[in-house]
Amino acid sequence: MGKIIWRSPSNIALIKYWGKYGHQLPKNASISFTLENAFTETGIAYIPKDTPEVSISFLFEGQTNELFENKIKKFLESIVSEFPFLQQYHLDIDSYNSFPHSTGIASSASSMSALALCLCSIERHLEGKGEADADFFAKASRIARMGSGSASRSVYPTLAAWGSHPSIPQSSQEYAVSFEHAHPVFATFKDAILIVSKNEKEVSSRVGHALMEENPFAEVRFRQAATNMDTLISTLHNGDLNTFGSIVEKEALTLHALMMTSEPSFILMKPATLNIIEAIRGFRNEHQIPVFFTLDAGPNVHILYPEAVAEKVENFIEEKLLKHCEKGQWISDRVGSGPKRV
Ligand code: DP6
Repeated sequence: MGKIIWRSPSNIALIKYWGKYGHQLPKNASISFTLENAFTETGIAYIPKDTPEVSISFLFEGQTNELFENKIKKFLESIVSEFPFLQQYHLDIDSYNSFPHSTGIASSASSMSALALCLCSIERHLEGKGEADADFFAKASRIARMGSGSASRSVYPTLAAWGSHPSIPQSSQEYAVSFEHAHPVFATFKDAILIVSKNEKEVSSRVGHALMEENPFAEVRFRQAATNMDTLISTLHNGDLNTFGSIVEKEALTLHALMMTSEPSFILMKPATLNIIEAIRGFRNEHQIPVFFTLDAGPNVHILYPEAVAEKVENFIEEKLLKHCEKGQWISDRVGSGPKRV
């Protein structure tokens, strides 16, 4: 018997994963910034048991949560062949998020990666092996992917890429890899998350990905994602922030355009989302400073900018953008150092 705790961050995609096939495999390669302040901390105590069925108890932020518990149990049942110890140990799992859960920020990336890291640590511990090698993180990423695709990218610091792509060495459909040798400016990037609406997501990722199967623009999109990836990779190496920003913003708007042109159609932006986007573009043009937006599959806006212009951008956010946010709420985050064993 023992206990393992991991803290694992959320991530924000620069090239978006939207569309999947088979067992959670991506239709196109994606790449993301790993965040720092938005994380899930998950602890798992493992206790020997006699019967082979998967057995867990689950507390979310100190409270029982039947919905989450059933989801996790089902997920664990689906990966028993990966972790035979699940038949020998009962798991007492407790988990909390660093960010308030009613902010519309998706927690599947941080929560599934924290869970996967704990499972891989328990496995290594039971085998009497250490854990900080590349195989450990590749397996944690692969298991996290089976829980939620974007979670595969949360197990590495700074930048991670998931999906086979010719210019990313070792890249794989099965797991994410760390994106190395980026220009140092990117490690200084901040992400101001503007909360436009705290409502639950209007459309789940599962449904959103499935809509791509019939979307008339799907094939063009998957080709565009590969081209955008190549351009973005060049900018990540050479630090050309204007090209970086133009690709990142186009990716966000393409994701939303795909949702608008799906059947049924979804408009996931709110008027405030567009107001913020217009204000960011106006501010950038006026002051000629590198500040860009990206979006998840929802109305909240992520504003990306290097540390060097943080003061100017954050004054602008406080003065001009908070009026568009629900209860004036925003979360200050930055590119992070990856998951930590607690
Ligand atoms: C828009 O990873 O949440 O955030 O694999 O069904 O769990 P599932 O989907 P999920 O999709 C994330 C989509 C996105 C873009 C991205 O993170 O790449």
